[in-house]
Amino acid sequence: MFTNHAAKKLFKQVEKIRCASSSGARPDGVLDNLDIPTPASLPVLGTRLDIWKAGSSKKLHEYIDGRHKELGPIYRESLGPVTGIFVADPEAIRSIFSQEGKYPVHIVPEAWVLFNKEYDYSRGLFFMDGPEWLTHRTKMNKLLLKGDLNWMEECCNIIIDDFINQLNGNLNEEVKNLDEMLYRTFLNVLIGLLLGSKGYKKHAELVKSSVKNLTRDIGKVFETTVKLQMLHANWAFKLGLPQWNRFEESMRTALTSTYILIEDIEKKCEDESSLLMKMRNEDMSDDCIKAIVGDLILAAADTTAYTMQWMLYSVARNMDVQDKIRSELSNPDSTYTKYVLKETLRLYPVAPFLTRFLPHESVIAGYRVPKNSLIVMSIYTTGREEKYFKDAGKFVPERWDRGSDMQATAQASLPFAVGARSCIGRKLAEYELQKMLTEIVKNFRLKLSNTEEIQMVMKMVAVPSPSIRLKLDKI
Ligand code: HEM
Repeated sequence: MFTNHAAKKLFKQVEKIRCASSSGARPDGVLDNLDIPTPASLPVLGTRLDIWKAGSSKKLHEYIDGRHKELGPIYRESLGPVTGIFVADPEAIRSIFSQEGKYPVHIVPEAWVLFNKEYDYSRGLFFMDGPEWLTHRTKMNKLLLKGDLNWMEECCNIIIDDFINQLNGNLNEEVKNLDEMLYRTFLNVLIGLLLGSKGYKKHAELVKSSVKNLTRDIGKVFETTVKLQMLHANWAFKLGLPQWNRFEESMRTALTSTYILIEDIEKKCEDESSLLMKMRNEDMSDDCIKAIVGDLILAAADTTAYTMQWMLYSVARNMDVQDKIRSELSNPDSTYTKYVLKETLRLYPVAPFLTRFLPHESVIAGYRVPKNSLIVMSIYTTGREEKYFKDAGKFVPERWDRGSDMQATAQASLPFAVGARSCIGRKLAEYELQKMLTEIVKNFRLKLSNTEEIQMVMKMVAVPSPSIRLKLDKI
């Protein structure tokens, strides 16, 4: 029989062993997950007050940047119901991608997952996982990322010419509805690619009117999703809150319009070089095409339209950059607009966080991280770190030139992510954004009309707030 004293002593010894194994460095020098720095937090409330004071979810990138400055390149924090391990170190980020496994998994908005489950909607690449994702992703990689992608150019060029014509109607005054014009243009490009350039030319007016409605419907989905993010989507759903009902309604409307448009494209599409025909030739069923194209439509326009706005904002404030783009127009080998885009995405990554759930226990930045932990890579922070970019706050496209003495650490700016699950639209986005920028700067001198400070705020993607106001002078 133990005496009380002996029992206490034994308990203390067991506790000591337990603590030694769960905290502090192990013999291999790796620290435990529980040793990852965490911010001070209140019982029940956690760090909600701090997040609220920093500007809530709209300013999450700045809040997390501040936490990295306080706690270092790796820290752990619970944001509402999820706990994330936040990482802002290029070497650690490289190691995360190298451990992501055959079927990388990222986080998707809770409300969208609930909606898909509730209505039994099959969705595209962004939502798929495991072997299903890999099969479709491999087929789509062949069409959108690999080999000769010149087939995309003709259609992009027609639609960008059309956009320049619209700008010509806005000379010497502020461009009206720039946000919507850009959004519609990039959506048109995707629909144009699906139809093929011959089909697009034939049906351009019809496409434009469908795109107009779709722009409005998708806009509502993003708006209602952002409102739900302030709440707990699952609770809002279970309690049938008006925010959930509005989201549900917008999602149903947008998906219905998307599917009607896809069916329409399927009927009209005859062009062998169109994306739709290429998908059919990859043995994809009509249902699968619908699901994948639906997601492409949702992912394509917002990201590119807002990146274009950030790029126009940056060049409008830097006349020397505009002059240099013009001076390089006759050089077909010029890489300058590519650098302008890279520099824009370094400072204004529309997706400022990349996420992964790793399939095995792993070691990240010297800490052991249990399998399936949510890892959030803070590329907004790495992209603005003086350690990786000299004069990090300045917009200097030349830094991306290998010969430049301005430092640029490529691994610290990953706006499209890397690896098997990186952005499938990267090549298309790079082409259309560079082409549009070149055409705009060739035709117009850009001036920014905003006098107030432009802030970066999160509305699903990182957008300028208030909106960019541009004035154009014809050259
Ligand atoms: C500047 C423009 C864009 C940026 C910065 C961007 C960025 C990203 C990022 C960071 C991801 C997540 C990757 C990950 O989890 O590792 C992603 C995924 C994705 N993007 Fe983009 N994107 C852009 C344009 C586009 C376009 C034009 C399309 C469509 C043609 C597109 C379609 C997708 C899809 C479908 C996924 C999910 C891929 C998968 O899970 O396999 N994106 N994008």
